Amino acid sequence: MILLLYILLVTGTYAKLMINFDSFTGTPISLEEVKRQEKKNITFWCINQIEPCDPEEGRRVDGSCNNLRYPQRGASHTPTYRLLPAVYDKNFEPRLSKSGHSLPLARRLRTSLLAVGRLPDQQLTTLATNFLVFMTTDVLSLHDTVKYIIWKPYCCQRKGKADRDCVPNKIPADDPVHRFSNIRCLNMTRPESFQSIGCIRNDTVPERIITSTPSFDLSIIYGSTLKSLMERGRLFQDGLLKYEVENGRIWPPSVKTGGGVCFLNQKPQETRCHNTPEDGVNSLAGVNLFSVWFWRLHNFIATGLSTVNPCWDDDKLFYTARDINIAIALQIIFYELLPAYFGLENLFRDGVLSPTLGFRDYYNENLFPQISLEFPFVLRWFHTTQEGNMNLYDTQGNYLKKVPIVNLTLRTGYFGIDDNMDYVTQGNFRQATANPDYIVDPDIVEVGLGPHQRASDILTNDLAKNRYFGFQPYIKYREFCFKQSFKTFDDLLYAIDPERVELLKEIYENVKDIDLIAGIWLERLIEGGRVPPTLYCVVVEQLLRVIASDRHCNPLCNCENIDFVNLWSWKDPKCDNQCS
Ligand SMILES: *[C@@H]1O[C@H](CO)[C@@H](O)[C@H](O)[C@H]1NC(C)=O
Ligand SMILES: *[C@@H]1O[C@H](CO)[C@@H](O)[C@H](O)[C@H]1NC(C)=O
Ligand SMILES: *[C@@H]1O[C@H](CO)[C@@H](O)[C@H](O)[C@H]1NC(C)=O
Ligand SMILES: *[C@@H]1O[C@H](CO)[C@@H](O)[C@H](O)[C@H]1NC(C)=O
Repeated sequence: MILLLYILLVTGTYAKLMINFDSFTGTPISLEEVKRQEKKNITFWCINQIEPCDPEEGRRVDGSCNNLRYPQRGASHTPTYRLLPAVYDKNFEPRLSKSGHSLPLARRLRTSLLAVGRLPDQQLTTLATNFLVFMTTDVLSLHDTVKYIIWKPYCCQRKGKADRDCVPNKIPADDPVHRFSNIRCLNMTRPESFQSIGCIRNDTVPERIITSTPSFDLSIIYGSTLKSLMERGRLFQDGLLKYEVENGRIWPPSVKTGGGVCFLNQKPQETRCHNTPEDGVNSLAGVNLFSVWFWRLHNFIATGLSTVNPCWDDDKLFYTARDINIAIALQIIFYELLPAYFGLENLFRDGVLSPTLGFRDYYNENLFPQISLEFPFVLRWFHTTQEGNMNLYDTQGNYLKKVPIVNLTLRTGYFGIDDNMDYVTQGNFRQATANPDYIVDPDIVEVGLGPHQRASDILTNDLAKNRYFGFQPYIKYREFCFKQSFKTFDDLLYAIDPERVELLKEIYENVKDIDLIAGIWLERLIEGGRVPPTLYCVVVEQLLRVIASDRHCNPLCNCENIDFVNLWSWKDPKCDNQCS
């Protein structure tokens, strides 16, 4: 008996209480299969170890047990679904044109269809774009970018030719910018999939693999595994997240040695680099800012809760504060951010938002918490609204200076010095974001990743990814969304202005060749909103699923009148008995 206990403790096999699920199929798997995958070191990707579900417990950090019948669905590495079946050429290479040729080069399409320049939005500030980036990061992972910058940095070199993962973008000799440089190739890798990792056979349609949970649950703050939250998140005191105070400002904990992933910190002044459950908080400037704000908000909420409910223990405080923090993020996304772009009336009409106050129960356990492959993809259109500079202002609104936003990627240290955090915060609600139009900021399409690469064009990348994801042509999505069938270029006039239809005609041979994102780039914006209709359609489909499939979001509340400032002064009646 003692020996058995010893074996259990030392080998950690008490984890046998956990059930192993195949992350792709979502079904339990045998220990033999687990061993096989351990040998290949792919368990992180292909297996979810899940404790049995308890219907009474709250939202798990790893997203498991959101759907009680299929505990893995909603956890990290839940596969995406597709609105339309994939189309590829042989060996899952990008589809060919109707006439059997390669489609036009991605970079040539980008430079032909979108103009480069800067035009400020007359309504929205950079706060809107930064929140969108932050929101998207909640349901994505950054490994596809890390892959070609760090894991496989040789895609434009000879070695890249022999690596199937390398799919760099060619730059034509007459490129408007690079005819003046010797750059003829932009690094890129194929998106990581269940097949590329080795979870499933590679003769099947590539299925994208994503590490964040597919629910809007602040994965970027709390992580996607309990382990990372325990080790790098929780303070285990008063429900707080770990924090540091420097010059009166509260920060997430910082990496103590080695500098972390903040490769662009300008040493020796800039040293700060967040050491939190997700390294991704250090990535793009917008993600970084919102992460710091939501990190602080968690502790603000927990402190409020602990003042009014002194009998609550650390666990109860922590998880309640997390629930409230997630609820605030959802409230901002659904009732503030999305109406600004999608139109409040449109979202009422389509049932995403409720025009009346109060609760709705939309839960449907037959829908899994999952995102479509198209959903995060079409959000890339918002790259056209990305402003290249981050302006800094003082509290009186005086302009101080600007810094290219691409220079702030993986550079948390910048926010930690010279009161920059305060000035950047001011800038977020004073500086106009870029107008939603056919004009993209020069930094976004020429510099892109800042000093991490010599040149990169984020929108060329978007177009190329479109093809590696195997999306059907633009007109098929038009048909799916609006039951319109487009047979000739002239039919496009329903959706796209005549001069832009001309552009498409010049570069694509056939209307059926047009790539999904290229069509979205050129569509006229929706009535009552500021986004292209096909993007609207894909996003609304996703939001309706989020509403119905996330057990922890239901019942939903249109809580316009909730007093958020006093939300965490809610007093648990039980505490009166126990603590007074
Ligand atoms: C196993 O995989 C993990 C995560 O993908 C990686 O960090 C680690 O280096 C790998 N170990 C070996 C021995 O390859
Ligand atoms: C599948 O894997 C085999 C063996 O590793 C490789 O030769 C082949 O190119 C792969 N096929 C695809 C479509 O990735
Ligand atoms: C931004 O980074 C580039 C290098 O990519 C550098 O030349 C430039 O001076 C930087 N700009 C600022 C304002 O830091
Ligand atoms: C591609 O990546 C390599 C290795 O990081 C780098 O040297 C090269 O400059 C990159 N190419 C471009 C166009 O940035």
